[in-house]
Amino acid sequence: MPKLDATAKLSTPLGKILLTGAAGGLGQVLRHSLQPFANSLRLSDITPMTSAAAHEEIVQCNLADKAAVDAAVAGVDAIVHMGGVSTERPFEEILEANIKGVFHIYEAARRHGVRRVVFDSSNHVVGFHKQSDFLETDCARRPDGYYGLSKAYGEDLSRFYFDRYGIESACLRIGSSFPEPADRRMLVTWLSYRDLTELVRCCLFAPALGHTIVYGASNNRDPWWSNAGAAHLGFVPQDNTEPFRAKAESVAPLAADDPVRVYQGGSFVVRGPFETLPAVSP
Ligand SMILES: NC(=O)c1ccc[n+]([C@@H]2O[C@H](COP(=O)([O-])OP(=O)(O)OC[C@H]3O[C@@H](n4cnc5c(N)ncnc54)[C@H](O)[C@@H]3O)[C@@H](O)[C@H]2O)c1
Repeated sequence: MPKLDATAKLSTPLGKILLTGAAGGLGQVLRHSLQPFANSLRLSDITPMTSAAAHEEIVQCNLADKAAVDAAVAGVDAIVHMGGVSTERPFEEILEANIKGVFHIYEAARRHGVRRVVFDSSNHVVGFHKQSDFLETDCARRPDGYYGLSKAYGEDLSRFYFDRYGIESACLRIGSSFPEPADRRMLVTWLSYRDLTELVRCCLFAPALGHTIVYGASNNRDPWWSNAGAAHLGFVPQDNTEPFRAKAESVAPLAADDPVRVYQGGSFVVRGPFETLPAVSP
C-alpha cells in the first residue's frame, strides 16, 4: 500500500491505521468502527491492552516517549490520534501527554512519510466563548484551561506540519462524545458514536483534506458551531439529542450568571488552579 498522497484520491480500505488512545472511551469505539476502513489497525495506548484480533496489532506506548512514538508510527498509512489527557489537569501532566505527545506524533509522521492525521482537538479550544455565541471554524480561539491550550497547540502544530511538510490534518473539535448526553450542555455538544465514526471516516477519505478544523457534534437543536468551513469533508451527522431532552431538562438549570452556564466550556472554565508548589505564606 503506498503512502497517502495529498493529490491522490483515497479509497477504502487503507493499509494500516494507527489509532492512539485505543484503550480510552472513544478509542474503544473506533477500534471496532474503523475496522472496515483499513486492512489492519495498530492500536496504541499507555494502558496495557490484550487480545488483539487478527487484523489488529497492539503497541503499548507513552506519547511522551519520542522514540516509542516513532516506532509506533513506522509503516502506517494514516494516524487517528485520540490519545492523551482528556480533561483539565495540572500543566505538567498535560505537557507530557498532550503537548510533547502531539509533537512526537507529527515528527514521526514526517519522518515516516505519513500523509494524513486525524487529530482529536476539543471544543475546549473555544471554551471561553459564550454559549450565546455562534462560532465558525476560523473563529478566535479562547481556550478554557491547560487542556484546551494543549489542543490549541496541536491545531497550530498540525497547521505548521501542513504548511511546511504537506502533511494533511483534520482537527476535530469534539463536543461531548459519550453513549448519551448527560446534562443540558450536552444537549448542544453531544456527538453520537455513529456520527463520530462518520466524521473520522470523512476525514480519512476526503479527496483533499488540507488543514481542516471541524466541530464534532451531532445534528442537535440550537447549535453553537457551524461547520460551513469544513463542508468539503461531506460530514452529515445523522443523530440528535431530542430523544434525551426531557431527561436532561428535568434537572433544574444553573443560575443564569453561573460561569458554567455562561461559557461554552461548561465546568472546565472553573477548574483549577492546580497548586504544585508549597502554599505561599501570607
Ligand atoms: N470524549 C469526549 O467527549 C471528547 C471531547 C473532546 C475531545 N476529546 C478528545 O478525544 C480523545 C479521546 O477522548 P476519550 O474520551 O476517549 O478520552 P479517554 O481519557 O477515555 O482516553 C484517552 C486515552 O489516552 C491514553 N493516554 C493518556 N495519556 C497517555 C500517554 N502519555 N501516552 C499514551 N496514551 C495516553 C489513556 O490511557 C486513554 O486510554 C482525547 O484526545 C480527548 O481529549 C474527547
